[in-house]
Amino acid sequence: MNKAKRRVVIAGNWKMNFTPAEATAFINEVKPLVAGKSGCDVVFCAPYVTIAAAQKAAEGSNISIGAENVHFEDHGAFTGEVSAKMLTECGVKYVIIGHSERRQYFGETDTTVNLRVKAALAAGMTVILCLGEVKEQRLSGITREIVSMQTKLDLAGVSAEEMKRVIIAYEPVWAIGTGLTATPEQADETCGQIREVLAEIYGEEVAEATTIQYGGSMNDKNAAELLAKENVDGGLIGGASLVATKFEAIVNAAQ
Ligand code: 13P
Repeated sequence: MNKAKRRVVIAGNWKMNFTPAEATAFINEVKPLVAGKSGCDVVFCAPYVTIAAAQKAAEGSNISIGAENVHFEDHGAFTGEVSAKMLTECGVKYVIIGHSERRQYFGETDTTVNLRVKAALAAGMTVILCLGEVKEQRLSGITREIVSMQTKLDLAGVSAEEMKRVIIAYEPVWAIGTGLTATPEQADETCGQIREVLAEIYGEEVAEATTIQYGGSMNDKNAAELLAKENVDGGLIGGASLVATKFEAIVNAAQ
């Protein structure tokens, strides 16, 4: 395995935070702090209504703005949903799919996650696919089985070529928003297991080239240790992506 072959991606997931005005102020604050940090790609995934303001504020910087979900149909009677075509027309290149909060509170299943992944890829977007075990599964010793199953189901029908536009975010559900972080060893082990599944499906070359992030209470204090691990190629950051100086520290740790 060769970590140098992979792009490190530090992505913020703002979740249901930041109005357009707040996002503008935040991007203006964080922009100079991450400028010129070419050791990683910097992305913030924003609520739909905040995307345009964040993009405008990020113009000319090294910050990309993504979305937090996307529907799998092009258009139609799906009240409250947004299609990949709508996002790409707005210049959105990244989209989070399958976040555990979507799975937990909004009925997302591996089947709908897979449909969304395929629709986003078909539209030319880069997908940040989230997966990970819940606490009981880790305690039962079935984490490997869970992430393996999710990887296979969520990526069903995705080609090796399309995998160039797939980032996987390993997010143990018990570590999200809880202040509990997977140890660097746990993060490395499970990201490595996901990479093994990718090798099974797509071969070593694709597996070695795929960026696998860790997410779950990653912050300015623990980022360096997590990012130092062989199989951890970046982070998907919730809470700490709302504080410019904390996010800056994570980006610095990725250089
Ligand atoms: P926290 O960093 O707040 O734990 O959230 C992680 C997450 O869910 C990112 O998608």
